[in-house]
Amino acid sequence: MATTEMNPEQAVRSRYGPAAAEKENALCCPVDYDPKFLAVIPDEILERDYGCGDPSRHLNPGETVLDLGSGGGKICYIASQVVGPEGRVVGVDMNDEMLALARAHRQSIGDALGYHNVELKKGKIQDLTLDYGRLEARLAASPVTTAAELDELEAWKAKERQENPMIATASIDVVVSNCVLNLVDPRAKSALFHEMHRVLEKGGRVVISDIVSDTCPSICGTIRSYGAVAFRARSGKTCS
Ligand SMILES: C[S@@+](CC[C@H](N)C(=O)[O-])C[C@H]1O[C@@H](n2cnc3c(N)ncnc32)[C@H](O)[C@@H]1O
Repeated sequence: MATTEMNPEQAVRSRYGPAAAEKENALCCPVDYDPKFLAVIPDEILERDYGCGDPSRHLNPGETVLDLGSGGGKICYIASQVVGPEGRVVGVDMNDEMLALARAHRQSIGDALGYHNVELKKGKIQDLTLDYGRLEARLAASPVTTAAELDELEAWKAKERQENPMIATASIDVVVSNCVLNLVDPRAKSALFHEMHRVLEKGGRVVISDIVSDTCPSICGTIRSYGAVAFRARSGKTCS
């Protein structure tokens, strides 16, 4: 029997695409951010805040930060100010509309701060080796219409992963994520945690805020989950 069920990635795309264009109240949770970091961030980003905590509170000046599922870019632009001009922030999201919203203000926010330290990349957070921006440019230049071309594309992808990974191994001090990991297909969760570990420097940290209960009928206003998990890479230490 034919099925019309969407897979988790299709569901995320169709839910968060429109939510980038128009504020979606049902996706918003109340979160208190440090107001001093919000002044340079435009309202259209702040109002399309679909996070459930504030991992940026656990960052330090000079750090290199990776934001998984960066959405409209709010945490990236707050993190940008916490890490300062000596630090760097990379946001990854697979949703075109969310990336467009975040990228639309990158230049003006950097200009207002006096430095530019935020990059926004298209990709899947469970596979941080493949840059979908580069993949789409390759597809535009060399469309795939035959099996031979498909084989060539697969070979190109394998080479990219090896020689030009979207996020290099051991290149990140802190991985943050705000209300995203719960959206990843359970079958991809193990790859996701493997990727977080791969990209972290020795002694690097992970700071996640996420929904940790699915039993409450109304999440907004009733669940406020902050910094649910934090762990250190390769040091053997765990903290919460
Ligand atoms: C609930 S929103 C949170 C956005 C942002 N972190 C915030 O605090 O506003 C979830 C975001 O994660 C992205 N996302 C979900 N699953 C993803 C995946 N597997 N790979 C990349 N992005 C993903 C969605 O496109 C969406 O922008």
